[in-house]
Amino acid sequence: MENFFAPCPRGVETLLEGEFDALELKNLKRVPGGVHFDSDWLGCYSANLYSRIATRVLWRVAHGPYAVEDDIYRLAKDVPWHRFFSPAQTIRVGVTAVKSPLKSLEFITLRIKDAVCDRFRAETGQRPSVDTREADIRIHAFIDAERCTLYIDTSGAPLHQRGLRRKTVDAPIKENLAAAILHMTGWQPGTPLYDPMCGSGTFLLEAVQIALGIAPGASGRSFGFQGLKNFQPEIWKAVLETAHARAKPVRFAQIYGSDSSPVALRATLANLDRAGLLPAVSLKPGDILDTDAPTETPGTLVANPPYGERLSELEELAAFYPRLASAFKRRFAGWNCWLLSSDTRMPKLMRLTPGRKIPLFNGGLECRLYEFRMVSGSNRAK
Ligand SMILES: C[S@@+](CC[C@H](N)C(=O)[O-])C[C@H]1O[C@@H](n2cnc3c(N)ncnc32)[C@H](O)[C@@H]1O
Repeated sequence: MENFFAPCPRGVETLLEGEFDALELKNLKRVPGGVHFDSDWLGCYSANLYSRIATRVLWRVAHGPYAVEDDIYRLAKDVPWHRFFSPAQTIRVGVTAVKSPLKSLEFITLRIKDAVCDRFRAETGQRPSVDTREADIRIHAFIDAERCTLYIDTSGAPLHQRGLRRKTVDAPIKENLAAAILHMTGWQPGTPLYDPMCGSGTFLLEAVQIALGIAPGASGRSFGFQGLKNFQPEIWKAVLETAHARAKPVRFAQIYGSDSSPVALRATLANLDRAGLLPAVSLKPGDILDTDAPTETPGTLVANPPYGERLSELEELAAFYPRLASAFKRRFAGWNCWLLSSDTRMPKLMRLTPGRKIPLFNGGLECRLYEFRMVSGSNRAK
């Protein structure tokens, strides 16, 4: 058994814990920003392949107390890095500190990098070089007030990069947050799902993968664990084959998208098409303010409207919200409408009381996910 930690967007840790529970990973421990677990390598590969919520899966290689930077250097130098990867591979060190008394994160980063290189030189006569952009091996240090934990990243590029979304428009939502939101809405595959401001199509892409049982990591992306000396290709091959066998054939999944911007709609179309998922979705251009619900049967509407950074945009949004509310009332009776926004004025300006208001972080941006249940046969939100 090895120890792992999977970070995720803040606010969705319980969902990640649920995913790991379903994968039968052991000793789950939920903390703000992620979930710790114990597992063999099969479990690590599965977590990377199947988790829609995790941002990464980190393998813990050292943990210990520290008082000064040199303690962290010694902790890092004690790790047999040369057994995990080769000096021909490039490295990158990242440090996250919470309540640490140490002054400079840059200096800690440098000391950890020195320790890795010094250990390599002592063991092999060679040292890895640093690549701060596309490193083969990513080392993460988490430092709290008293203890330092060192991890090797088994994911490589973050897991929300499924390899499907090649084109983006402004302010795309991260894929793992979109998947978490779809889960929170209670949407069930087989019932209508509509994103009327689909941008580059993130909600739609995630929804199709959920509906068709496509593992988020099964679309050809690579993973950090493939570059480690202990990589077991035959186990990985079997895990991947099982995932491919479980995916349903691509067919229409009652998932609908639209956007008022032709550029955005083209991006969504290109992304779905490249992924071979276009037949699952119905797309059309249109402004939400004068677009009818895509189905007679009410379903789930989910969107993240523009946030508005400049004053003029904020003013435009203040005028947009009441019109959006009246569009919901007139055309989406019976629908369960969910909006993600960092603009806390939204419900008040819509003059609708949200059934739920869930705090979430979209990257560094503090947002709320608002639920508006549009009562059927009346023009009021419950
Ligand atoms: C924040 S972006 C959505 C990003 C998207 N969720 C993604 O991940 O790519 C907001 C989108 O709303 C669209 N939009 C703005 N006003 C609209 C309106 N009245 N009707 C339809 N779409 C609108 C914009 O064109 C933009 O693509």
